[in-house]
Amino acid sequence: MINREYKEMLSSKDVIFEIAGEARKRALRFGDDNIFNFSLGNPSVPAPEAVKQTFTRIIEETDPLELHSYSPAGGVPFVRSSIARDLNERYGSHYEGRHIFMTCGAAAALSHALRALTNPGDTVLTQAPCFPEYIPYVKGALCKLSMVPAETGSFQINLSAMEAMLTEDVAAVLLNSPNNPSGAVYSTETIKELSSLLQRKSEAYHHPIYLISDEPYRDIIFSHADSPYIANFYANTITCYSFSKSLSLPGERIGYVAVNPHAVDADGILEILPQVSRTTGHNGAPAILQRVVAELSGTTSDLSIYEDNSRLLYRALKEYGYSLVRPGGTFYMFPASPEPDDTAFCRRAMELNLMLVPGSSFGAPGFFRIAYCVPTERVTKSLPLFRELIENT
Ligand SMILES: Cc1ncc(COP(=O)(O)O)c(C=O)c1O
Repeated sequence: MINREYKEMLSSKDVIFEIAGEARKRALRFGDDNIFNFSLGNPSVPAPEAVKQTFTRIIEETDPLELHSYSPAGGVPFVRSSIARDLNERYGSHYEGRHIFMTCGAAAALSHALRALTNPGDTVLTQAPCFPEYIPYVKGALCKLSMVPAETGSFQINLSAMEAMLTEDVAAVLLNSPNNPSGAVYSTETIKELSSLLQRKSEAYHHPIYLISDEPYRDIIFSHADSPYIANFYANTITCYSFSKSLSLPGERIGYVAVNPHAVDADGILEILPQVSRTTGHNGAPAILQRVVAELSGTTSDLSIYEDNSRLLYRALKEYGYSLVRPGGTFYMFPASPEPDDTAFCRRAMELNLMLVPGSSFGAPGFFRIAYCVPTERVTKSLPLFRELIENT
């Protein structure tokens, strides 16, 4: 008999992919140029030329037997060391190669971290609004996901609500900064307060509360934002990173888990991560891609377009009367829906061929997400539609 749980998941399909599917249908009907697809977080700038050059050189210069052989579970040793070195140079951290565990993107990094740091039945606490895929990731670890209500004035962490929800059964707090969908970057002050809250609660409950810091947008930070490296503020932090957004390589599936060397059970976590791979059939990240990203430490795609788009949209939406928090990074914006029902609002936008995602999909009804990872000229052309939408509310 086929699996019941997965079958049940069919009734809660990925809303974002459904809207993107509708965008494709509309593009066939009305033409690409008439569809404003702000639904998907697919980078709109190409991977830098250095990716192609490095890829080609590695294939040409490396012994094929060595290149294509199984990678050790945690990754190719020199790749792990190179990433550790890069992090230490950038953030003053103290990783060694063994603290880096290569994965197929942030998705696999998160499922490894969640499985390694929890036991079935534990609660994982996250902050709304959040990436909807946290629901299946946490379910896959046989845990319960609880969502702290959004702090809609700033989209920082709602620390008082989090404190009330940090009960003894919480094994880990899962946070994402820069945040999808709000674009908020958690400030140094927020992270310091979070750290002291987690320390206090860990002491009170006599068990560590781990912080799983989901950071695929860490390199898309705008010039005005205060962007602390979170693991530097809380020892029990496991950082999940991806090259999907910074190098525009989402289809290549490459990222890593970085275990803070100061975490209480860092060695124990590192020891069991390969066992998580065994049970999930992960068995190592793609070997060529590991070598490519190791050689490109510090290189990114031209991410400046996202800040340009953000500035353009923010100014225009404010002028039209939308209420929104200025993003500090990512390529997302999360304005308040001008009408109380965010789904109805997004449906109305869709009628204008403007594809937006309701905030309810991210645990924050009453808002909507704009994924502005599109060419700037598309943003400019879409502005009259945003104006029309609010004027007709
Ligand atoms: C917040 C967040 N976490 C994790 C992921 C998964 O990223 P990856 O493509 O590296 O698996 C995404 C992808 O959009 C994301 O937005």
